[in-house]
Amino acid sequence: MLGVIFTNLIEMMEQEVGLELTETVLEEANLESKAIYTSVGFYSPGEVVAIVTTLSAHTGIPVGELVESFGVYLFPKLAEYHPQAVRGKKSVIEVLSILDSNIHVEVQKLYPDAQLPEFKTIEESPTHIKMRYISENSLEPLAKGLIIGGATYFNEEVEVDISVESADYSFITVRKTNSS
Ligand code: HEM
Repeated sequence: MLGVIFTNLIEMMEQEVGLELTETVLEEANLESKAIYTSVGFYSPGEVVAIVTTLSAHTGIPVGELVESFGVYLFPKLAEYHPQAVRGKKSVIEVLSILDSNIHVEVQKLYPDAQLPEFKTIEESPTHIKMRYISENSLEPLAKGLIIGGATYFNEEVEVDISVESADYSFITVRKTNSS
């Protein structure tokens, strides 16, 4: 997984739980990388799980909730690093509809080792989108957080419904609730 994901995760932890607990979590998580991440390096996705599981043990907040909050935090950061990905867009639904065919394709060109998920559109209207999410990492809570973070970015409200169908894929449905 791309280092920028880890550097942002650590930044969020420092802001939310403070430097001391962040240090403790990174030590206890027993990371192969020793938590020395560069934004363009690649590290095992298992390290995200190890960090968040250790943070969950310290805070009592469930792992899924922590990963979702991280997604909310991450969206505006990704948009800041890659402004072309969101330029001209008015809704997170628009972003989702071109994620597979455009945004994540451009990410793959920039970072050939990136392991991107698959988001296939099954149904779409201006106020809703239903997608199939396929990823070896099964990061549904991250996807949900990124979608909520995207909605916040575009100043809209959405409902996100995730239905895990098997170990291989999930359905994600997003509905705009303040349709203007
Ligand atoms: C609502 C919109 C988005 C959703 C739902 C989404 C979803 C995801 C998910 C779930 C992952 C984790 C990998 C996995 O599941 O296997 C991921 C990775 C990533 N996404 Fe997106 N994404 C969104 C928008 C963006 C945008 C705007 C950018 C910036 C151009 C971006 C860049 C990346 C990068 C750099 C990675 C890491 C790839 C790696 O670790 O190798 N995403 N995305």
